[in-house]
Amino acid sequence: MVCLGNICRSPLAEGIMKEKVRRRNLGWEVDSAGTGYWHTGEGPDPRSVAIAQRKGIDIRSQRARQIRPKDLEEFDLIFAMDTQNFRDIRLLAAGAEQEQKIHLILDLVHPGEARSVPDPYYDDDGFEGVFRMLEEACEQIATRWGENREA
Ligand code: 4NP
Repeated sequence: MVCLGNICRSPLAEGIMKEKVRRRNLGWEVDSAGTGYWHTGEGPDPRSVAIAQRKGIDIRSQRARQIRPKDLEEFDLIFAMDTQNFRDIRLLAAGAEQEQKIHLILDLVHPGEARSVPDPYYDDDGFEGVFRMLEEACEQIATRWGENREA
């Protein structure tokens, strides 16, 4: 899960996806990163922590890091939060196989529309909407790539 700062959107995506992976027993490794390095080592934005907490997800132990080329080798699926993140991640890809791992996360919900998860950093009221978008997208990810082992 990749955004710009790795403190607002992608930590929420990581937390939501991890919860779905846990519930469905998918056994996937889920991580997040930013295309930027500025917030390296910081915990998630308090507004992301708060909205996650209201939905029963604890993201406080996450720490921001910058995406590195090795992530494109090690992970099978990479989800960009917005079109700029998508372009920036593609620049790190070594070849077509790695490029094909990269998806714009809202394409799962609105295919072909190139929609971005809006950056809520300067919008205190944006976090609820961001959470809802990511919840819907992560559900689609679990359905499309996961075998549903829920009873
Ligand atoms: P994020 O939000 O990419 O969702 O983590 C941002 C966080 C910090 C900044 C920009 C976006 N920033 O410019 O510091």
